[in-house]
Amino acid sequence: MRAVVRGERGPVLVDVAAPEPGPGQVRIRTVAAAVNPVDVATARGLFGELAGAGLGWDVAGTVDAVGPGVDGPAVGERVVGFRDRLLPALGSHAELVVLDAAAVAPAPDLDPVRAATFPLNASTAWQGLDALGLAPGDSLLVTGAAGAVGRHAATLAVRRGLRVVAAVRPGAGHRVDTPYVETADGWPDAVRALAPGGVDGAFDAAGLGATALDAVRSAGRYLSVLPVLPLPPAFRGVTTRAVAAYGDRTVLTELVALAAAGVLDVPEPERFPLADATSAYARAAEPGRGTPVVLVP
Ligand SMILES: NC(=O)c1ccc[n+]([C@@H]2O[C@H](COP(=O)([O-])OP(=O)(O)OC[C@H]3O[C@@H](n4cnc5c(N)ncnc54)[C@H](OP(=O)(O)O)[C@@H]3O)[C@@H](O)[C@H]2O)c1
Repeated sequence: MRAVVRGERGPVLVDVAAPEPGPGQVRIRTVAAAVNPVDVATARGLFGELAGAGLGWDVAGTVDAVGPGVDGPAVGERVVGFRDRLLPALGSHAELVVLDAAAVAPAPDLDPVRAATFPLNASTAWQGLDALGLAPGDSLLVTGAAGAVGRHAATLAVRRGLRVVAAVRPGAGHRVDTPYVETADGWPDAVRALAPGGVDGAFDAAGLGATALDAVRSAGRYLSVLPVLPLPPAFRGVTTRAVAAYGDRTVLTELVALAAAGVLDVPEPERFPLADATSAYARAAEPGRGTPVVLVP
């Protein structure tokens, strides 16, 4: 099969043996696979020895083989899923991808090309909100709210009864129905004007660190999406932690239902053929892009 892996100067297309599913695993024939910031960073070698050559986390496709001990999904089912380890030699930017069955959920009613764009990002939003542990009525700053993780975090936080203030880069706009501020100089002041004393928590999907933490009230909570980087200092009793998303069929099943109901905002992505991964990665790396990028074999 054909797969895109990390080469000396970025993503390269190679011919490799088809991977076989082991115990508890399924093999998926890829219909579409998103190109996320983690792929761009991996292709640039930013994770060094922490990452294998495999590229691609998200996938939507059809199960074409199952390993021993799998009680679902079955061969022929349309599914979404994502790999959650950095080290594999192969990822989802391939014609076939092997995942743990527990990291895969049925998605029979979704357009697979759109569906390939949310498993990792919306799971990060869901699991990040779990990690923050705020209560209904609490206020939450979401940075990077025009991006994929931030947009899903804002949507899911509103559904959890949180009072969301979003932060977006000037001119980026905001697609979720919440107040928002633009990240011009001194923007945490604008957040504190909306949430006097500071917000109860921050979901820092833009990776702004100490600046985002500055908008949090004393003894509030801060969440980073960059688990391989140091957390900002826990000033003023603010609890700081990072989320590292993992494939969880229960969460993915909820997200599939929200996407099918139109609650989760899943825009039409830009498509690139697997053979033109170089262009896809270049496009995905452009700031202010707004739309997701997918590879289609
Ligand atoms: N921990 C995990 O498990 C996990 C999982 C998925 C993603 N992530 C990480 O989460 C982050 C967001 O991912 P994503 O897919 O949502 O990326 P994305 O779609 O590119 O969104 C990031 C958003 O943050 C904005 N932003 C970046 N720097 C900014 C700055 N200095 N000031 C204001 N806004 C800024 C970007 O604006 P511009 O486009 O204008 O730059 C964009 O709107 C990435 O770092 C990714 O690696 C972590």
